[in-house]
Amino acid sequence: MSQKPSPKRHLITSALPYANGPIHFGHLAGAYLSADVYSRHKKLLGEKTLFICGSDEHGVAIMLNAKKAGIDYQQYVDKWHAEHGEVFKKYGVEFDYFGQTSAPYHAEETIKWFHELNDRGFIEPQDSQQLYCNDCHNHLPDRFVEGTCYVCDYETARGDECPNCGEFIDPVRLKNPVCKICSSQNIKEVTVTQYYLMLSKYHEEFRKWFEAKKGSWRKTVWPYVDSLTKEELKDRAITRDLDWGIDVPLENCEGKKLYVWFDAPIGYVSNTKKLLEERGSQEDYLKDWWNNEETDLTHFIGKDNIIFHTIIFPTMSMASGRAKGADHVPANQFLNLEGKQFSKSTGHYVDALEAVDEFGQTALRYYLLSILPEQTDSSFSWEQFQAKVNNELANNIGNFLNRCLKFTQKHWKEGMASEFYKDFLKSEELKVLSEDLIEVNQLLNEQSFKKGIEKVMVIGNKANNYFSEQAPWALIKEDKEKAGKVLAASSVYALCLGVVMQPFLPDLSVGILQHFDNILDEEKKSKIYQGKLDVLEEVFQNGHCLEHDVNALVPKIQDETITEYAAKLEKV
Ligand code: 2FM
Ligand code: ZN
Repeated sequence: MSQKPSPKRHLITSALPYANGPIHFGHLAGAYLSADVYSRHKKLLGEKTLFICGSDEHGVAIMLNAKKAGIDYQQYVDKWHAEHGEVFKKYGVEFDYFGQTSAPYHAEETIKWFHELNDRGFIEPQDSQQLYCNDCHNHLPDRFVEGTCYVCDYETARGDECPNCGEFIDPVRLKNPVCKICSSQNIKEVTVTQYYLMLSKYHEEFRKWFEAKKGSWRKTVWPYVDSLTKEELKDRAITRDLDWGIDVPLENCEGKKLYVWFDAPIGYVSNTKKLLEERGSQEDYLKDWWNNEETDLTHFIGKDNIIFHTIIFPTMSMASGRAKGADHVPANQFLNLEGKQFSKSTGHYVDALEAVDEFGQTALRYYLLSILPEQTDSSFSWEQFQAKVNNELANNIGNFLNRCLKFTQKHWKEGMASEFYKDFLKSEELKVLSEDLIEVNQLLNEQSFKKGIEKVMVIGNKANNYFSEQAPWALIKEDKEKAGKVLAASSVYALCLGVVMQPFLPDLSVGILQHFDNILDEEKKSKIYQGKLDVLEEVFQNGHCLEHDVNALVPKIQDETITEYAAKLEKV
């Protein structure tokens, strides 16, 4: 007897945010909202899914800011970790695990990766030139040093990258270097040994793996990675002389830590291990998940993280033998704010926590999902936010739901009998509705989230137009039964909207589905979600009664509030 193939597993990761400052809309639209929609979608289909994230807590940028804040590193990252957790919760981004890379369990996993790569010959020591501050006696890797860029002459290029021309900087070549710890210019060059990840040794295998992704990865991702890796893979230093990070697990390496970008992506794996342990699961985090060909692995990231997620981490994973390489890396472009980059330092920025407290999760998720920068950069605008929420969500969908449910409740207080639903459940319109639901599913399977939410709105518009055209409020005066059938059909639309909105707008969806909880269960919801609308015969077999008060589900945004928020940005 042939065995059914076991259902695929989905490992979904969102870029670990640095525990080093507030989360803004750019982050949410870059790597978190679409991942959350995808995870909810797969879970609704009943497929085994884990959605993993955590805070990225090492690195020089964090050290500098903790020093500036006058608190120790651990306190500093704990504070941001807690705040980020709160932001994600309020936006409905529901990770299965949100861990910390400063935790011992993460160091333990990272060390295993280091040893595995070292034992297999993919880590080698090499002498390199480095800057050292004669005044504060610190090594100055990455952002610990600033100076004039040797490519474009920008005066405050950082030791890792020039923010002006984007050059990947070799700190010893910076002109007029300044120590960012003590502001001294008394800096010397020293020769130090660092450990390198020998990516060059994996070039051929990498290309074999990578070329198979052609056609399935986004056009903004594959050709870029192709051009970077066609000829060679460059070895990269993965250790630093610092006092914050994971100790290099070799002898004679006192004072050396692993580079933040070596340990951060391993956070996806260590957090999976921790999650399974905390759940008391029998599954093995590597055999059943990370190193399982049945696992479909997706990294949700912004475009600035492409190199690490498509080249370095897959190579670390495959060369170490601990994990498979990513199946999908749907990197988003950038989201700007009113046409300019978000910037906390210049104040061109919106506090995501304050915004969600003011406007609520549904309005913000809706707008951010509808402007996701999937193919090109996009821009958040307060005016457009108000227009889209008020016109599309409140006036259209919200108004339809409100009118349909209130009117039904008013005239059929005791509930509506099953006969009223019969015609619509056999109608052409229902077939179209089923096809529309299937299309949303397909779009989400293809990881096209912007088109997905657009399609949901198309369903909403159809429902609203149907209700307006049939005008049950007029019809009821002449023919109550006919009006009842229109309302029954409208209720079916309302229910299907509530179901299909689940991954996109979970709060609104709960608001809608509470009116149908007396006739639904998870299995029926899952069938409806997949467009298997035959199940509606069973759902409405005893009719339906609206038992809860019907309240407005989508509040409108007032002009004054928008003016106030837009003005905050103009002031800076
Ligand atoms: O760019 C960033 O915000 C990084 N903290 C992303 C890390 S993703 C992963 F590799 F952990
Ligand atoms: Zn110094």
